[in-house]
Amino acid sequence: MKVTVVGAGNVGATCADVLAHREIANEIVLLDIKEGFAEGKALDIWQTSPINLYDSRTVGSTNDYSKTAGSEVVVITSGLPRKPGMSRDDLIATNAGIVKTVTENVIKYSPNAIIIVVSNPLDVMTYCAYLNAKTDPKKVFGMAGVLDTARYRAFLATELNVSPKDIQAVLMGGHGDTMVPLPRYTTVAGIPVTELIAADKLNEIIERTKFGGGEIVKLLGTSAWYAPGAAAAQMVEAIVRDQKRIFPVCAWLNGEYGMKDIYLGVPVILGKGGIEKIIELQLDEAEKTLLNESASAVKSVMDVLDNMNINA
Ligand code: LAC
Repeated sequence: MKVTVVGAGNVGATCADVLAHREIANEIVLLDIKEGFAEGKALDIWQTSPINLYDSRTVGSTNDYSKTAGSEVVVITSGLPRKPGMSRDDLIATNAGIVKTVTENVIKYSPNAIIIVVSNPLDVMTYCAYLNAKTDPKKVFGMAGVLDTARYRAFLATELNVSPKDIQAVLMGGHGDTMVPLPRYTTVAGIPVTELIAADKLNEIIERTKFGGGEIVKLLGTSAWYAPGAAAAQMVEAIVRDQKRIFPVCAWLNGEYGMKDIYLGVPVILGKGGIEKIIELQLDEAEKTLLNESASAVKSVMDVLDNMNINA
């Protein structure tokens, strides 16, 4: 079973490494436009196999999509990352053209592939891939919620000095500063988080989570890769192993949460068919308001993409 990762930069290479190391796919194709880059990264990853004791093969390709033919899942990480001072939305003009070309090539060789978009601005690049893939939106979705929720869970684990394994949470909305953490749906080994942490401390963690990507951009001068790469790989695993995991995923809404024709982060069941079900939480009024604000922010960037007239 084959999985392709397009873009051999930090996020793509990390994703491929996790897929290989954890034997999530037996063949992993890493593709990049830069001559020799994906081949080099793939070779380096393959050379970890005798050390880490696995037999998944990672192969590289310089823009030859025929090598990706018949992929079950394709992860698209292509595009520029943020630099300090940039918002994810500043990347739209460059990354939309890239995501369009990549998606067309992916679908040409793997018409049945499930596509996971990781490129930023995430919600709108997922929309861009959907427009160009011309396939069922249950098979085109974006990775953001797994990452944002992981950041939130990691911050809570640090604060409470407990294992991150015991922290369950869900974040909704766009992958940006308007994302919607839901303390009401956050538990620590079944205990509501609000019983373990003071409200002001929890709010601080929520604010830190919203700007969690930016915090890393400030520290590194470019965006994060370990957590984004691992998050995308976890979604691939749920699909190829038909695990029916519940993750927040950037999904196409068709009436859910009272919204239509928009990509937005919502909890879903992920399995062999891609998004098998969108779970509709009974949000209270304050949560609904936050979700609607996040949807408006995403929609305004979707409109920017529509007005660029680059999609078929
Ligand atoms: C982040 C980027 C990948 O949140 O969007 O780190």
